[in-house]
Amino acid sequence: MHKIYGVIGDPIEHSMSPTIHNDAFKTQNIKAAYHHFHVQTENLPDAVRGMKAIGVSGFNVTIPHKEAVIPLLDEVEEVALAIGAVNTVVNRDGKFIGYNTDGKGFLKALRDQYHYTLAGKKILIIGAGGAARGIYFTLVKESIHLIDIANRTPEKAENLIAECPYEKTSCALSIAEAEKSLGEYDVIIQTTSAGMSPNMEAAPIKIEHIKKGAFVSDIIYNPLQTKFLKEAEQHGAAIQNGLGMFAHQAAFAFEIWTGVNPDTERMKQIVLDKLG
Ligand code: ATR
Repeated sequence: MHKIYGVIGDPIEHSMSPTIHNDAFKTQNIKAAYHHFHVQTENLPDAVRGMKAIGVSGFNVTIPHKEAVIPLLDEVEEVALAIGAVNTVVNRDGKFIGYNTDGKGFLKALRDQYHYTLAGKKILIIGAGGAARGIYFTLVKESIHLIDIANRTPEKAENLIAECPYEKTSCALSIAEAEKSLGEYDVIIQTTSAGMSPNMEAAPIKIEHIKKGAFVSDIIYNPLQTKFLKEAEQHGAAIQNGLGMFAHQAAFAFEIWTGVNPDTERMKQIVLDKLG
């Protein structure tokens, strides 16, 4: 019998998750189907109960339900609970267990392309929203300590650091402060929505004072090169877009559900083909 998986969110129709997961099920000869489900906030509890009642095997959770789904689950892994967001749920013997694979996906993608050890490197995260939170908590939990956070609203960066339950030595910066001290950082991680389609003219920070040979990662993959990444490249940085993070967060979810490691290069190619 086919197992059923899916993704719940609002809006959801443009999600690329069904395409990449259905392709991975097919390539791995796993009898399963993955659907997108449009679930509005007021229907979230009914949707989760319904999926349990009909025996859905697992699902992804996206905007705006990543936080609200937590109290509806039977168990949540420690780091997802600390982050306060779940993007992957697995049905284990009738129990819904929540995970967060976004930060892990980011770290895996970073390690794929950044070929140095992260220990001792100075890292700057730009942004203090949900995406920054997942990445920051995951890196700190992996004992990567030298991370500062810059945000348009610096108090939000301060709060993020204060709320992180793992050992850290981070400072919160304003964008102006970060622009001035940019040359101190070996790795810069852009997590804001500035520059994302259709607001492609926006860039969250001026990159002039970047360190020679710095590595710059932007979690946006549409467009494939944000204005921020283009400028970083013009200043001699090695750059990475968000495609790797997207593929690896999906791959970790797939592995949680099936125990099988899917082909992330194939996942990236599917997204590239879809983006045209
Ligand atoms: P997500 O869950 O995608 O991280 P979010 O929680 O709404 O989204 O957070 C958005 C982040 O992008 C915030 O850090 C926000 O800065 P503020 O906290 O000051 O609002 C940042 N952001 C959004 N648009 C921006 C822009 N044009 N310039 C700089 N930062 C921006």
